[in-house]
Amino acid sequence: MYSAHQTLQLNQLTNQLLQSTDEKNISQKSESLKQVLRFHEYRYYVLNDPLISDYEYDQLYKLLEKLEKENPQLVTKDSPTQRVGSSLNNSFETVQHLVPMLSLENSYNADDLIDWDRKAKELTGLNSIEYCIEPKFDGASISLIYENDLLVRAATRGDGVEGEDITNNIKQIRSIPLSAPFSEYGIQQIEIRGEVIMSKKSFAKYNDWLVEQGSSALANPRNAASGSLRMKDPKEVARRGLEAFLYHVSYYVSRESGVGSQESIHASSSTNDSRLSTHDSSLRMLWECGFRSPQKEKLVVRGIDEVIKHVHDFEEMRDTLPYEIDGMVVKVNEFALQEKMGMTTHHPRWAIAFKFKARQATTKLMNVEFQVGRTGAVTPVAKLNPVAIGGVTVSSISVHNEDYIKEKDLKIGDTVLIERAGDVIPQIVKSLPELRNGTEVDIDFPKDCPVCKSKLFKEESEAVWRCINIECEAQVVERIIHFVSKDAMDIKSFGEANVRKFYELKLLKDIPGIYHLAFDAVGKLEGFGKKSIDNLQAAIEASKQQPLNRLIYALGIRFVGETTAKTLANAIENLFDLQNKTEEELKELEDVGVKVAQSIFQFFHNQQNIDMLHELERSGLQFKNEKRETVAAGGLAGQTFLFTGTLAKLKRSEAEALAEQQGGKIVSGVSAKLNYLVVGEDAGSKLEKAKKINTIKIITEDEFLQLVNQ
Ligand code: IVH
Repeated sequence: MYSAHQTLQLNQLTNQLLQSTDEKNISQKSESLKQVLRFHEYRYYVLNDPLISDYEYDQLYKLLEKLEKENPQLVTKDSPTQRVGSSLNNSFETVQHLVPMLSLENSYNADDLIDWDRKAKELTGLNSIEYCIEPKFDGASISLIYENDLLVRAATRGDGVEGEDITNNIKQIRSIPLSAPFSEYGIQQIEIRGEVIMSKKSFAKYNDWLVEQGSSALANPRNAASGSLRMKDPKEVARRGLEAFLYHVSYYVSRESGVGSQESIHASSSTNDSRLSTHDSSLRMLWECGFRSPQKEKLVVRGIDEVIKHVHDFEEMRDTLPYEIDGMVVKVNEFALQEKMGMTTHHPRWAIAFKFKARQATTKLMNVEFQVGRTGAVTPVAKLNPVAIGGVTVSSISVHNEDYIKEKDLKIGDTVLIERAGDVIPQIVKSLPELRNGTEVDIDFPKDCPVCKSKLFKEESEAVWRCINIECEAQVVERIIHFVSKDAMDIKSFGEANVRKFYELKLLKDIPGIYHLAFDAVGKLEGFGKKSIDNLQAAIEASKQQPLNRLIYALGIRFVGETTAKTLANAIENLFDLQNKTEEELKELEDVGVKVAQSIFQFFHNQQNIDMLHELERSGLQFKNEKRETVAAGGLAGQTFLFTGTLAKLKRSEAEALAEQQGGKIVSGVSAKLNYLVVGEDAGSKLEKAKKINTIKIITEDEFLQLVNQ
């Protein structure tokens, strides 16, 4: 898409735009901004290899937004600012696909593929056929239409003939370009197909959020992707982190020779474009036009034996991918042959899906237990007759809340269908009521807390029952577990098992107790040698230096995740400043809504919490926002740093903290804004990139330490 030369030029332009204040030629400036923003969206979302930090991207975006606001005539349909439509503007009108969206025939083993290859050879009259193998992405299929290089319509598959117009939502997916240079291929109008997916990581994050909000978790990323595409508010869609792969050209109108379709796209040789005679070349065209199409993920081979070998290799690799695939799609590569083979009303004869082994299984729901979490939410957990799915034995699954149990019509004794999507937590897909024999019993939700026996409450807008006794033992233990956890205070070697053990033995009763742990008594417990006590003590001591944002997150305030904790830390100088903030003031902070503001306010107006904070402060934890204090004072103020490779003396996090303590700023990528690249062993692409920008000082770890000590 972008040559090395263009990449360098666009990077240079990026830096000029970030630095320039000149307002002379606004139309040229807005063009440049659009160009570089598109380029960086492509680097980030398609290549997964950003050249600038999120912060720098935001700066450029805001510049363009401001310019367009002041000069509305500069706004074009494909401006990066036009992704964000106004709220609630989805109509989901029914629209007709230009070419019906067919399905695929399925195969499950080598014999199925051999049969299919035999038919393909008969139909084409050939002895051996070239095939393209690519992943079968497990998401929601979409069709996109570009006219004169502009995205004009996006639709769901629907019944294959008609789908729903989801253009505004699709525009939120930044790996889908709003304009693409099809005209360079002589194409005036084109319909392309692909799959919108949600990565395993985004899915896990989304499910955590759903549960935190009191909703039910979804069974798999596929449901999450298709549900997200039908959200009323495009802004909500933008939050979901959807991605898209495009893998098929179904129809196009070329400038000279008029209508063509995928089945006859080879006829586009009338445009004399040999680039478009195979499926493989159409994938390359999509890639060249800025789409994420299978490139590294696909393989062109000859003969079915090679296909069989590779689909099995791909199945082995399945779990290493960041997104779900449920099989491979094998396609006849030559368009001329595809046309010869034709299609049925259901599927093309030139393609077949090879489905991987299912990650679904049925088993019996034996019982439901109720667990109390750190916010008091009572979660029902289904105990299952243990069953293996995709190499993992599953014996218990969260069934989230009362509504979920009703919605899935679950009873004790039911046979249930469960699914494990890769490394994603298993979920119940549905119960199978047709297999009931009358001995199944309803699941009764408790009225009282299963741990402290106090009465449970449920807010009208929520699906979750809660124990509101803040001293409920289950909650206390869960709060301590959260406090010491990796993303919070990261007290290594403490862990869930130790928290439970110390609590049961009355060696630990609350969070401040972590800092008064009686190591003599712990030392007498089985399994605690001198070394483990030393490690534990050192880890507790080290945690006192954790930055304020981690401490805020560790407190486990409802709705305050890691990002909100950072926002809060950046807005204050001392943790107790939050005591003086009104709900209104809190709401002014980024991403803090009514519920979050209320929850923070309540936390800081609860005497028990305030007492706990005073105790933690006395133990020497970081209550001040150190960064704020040092930025102005430090010797490295205003300098930016990036570390790459393995450092010999310092951990990466320690080195970063050292730079920050002196007022330095850590950046995430190599750009001309970077002052120092500190290089450890086995430094890779960052070093190569930095060498090309001669304003960056490339230094060793020792040189960095000298700089810090100066
Ligand atoms: S080709 C006319 N390629 O699988 C041929 N489909 O089970 C159109 N899918 O509806 C389909 N990955 O949504 C094709 N690499 C891929 C695919 C793929 C996922 C989906 C697609 C289709 C469904 C059929």
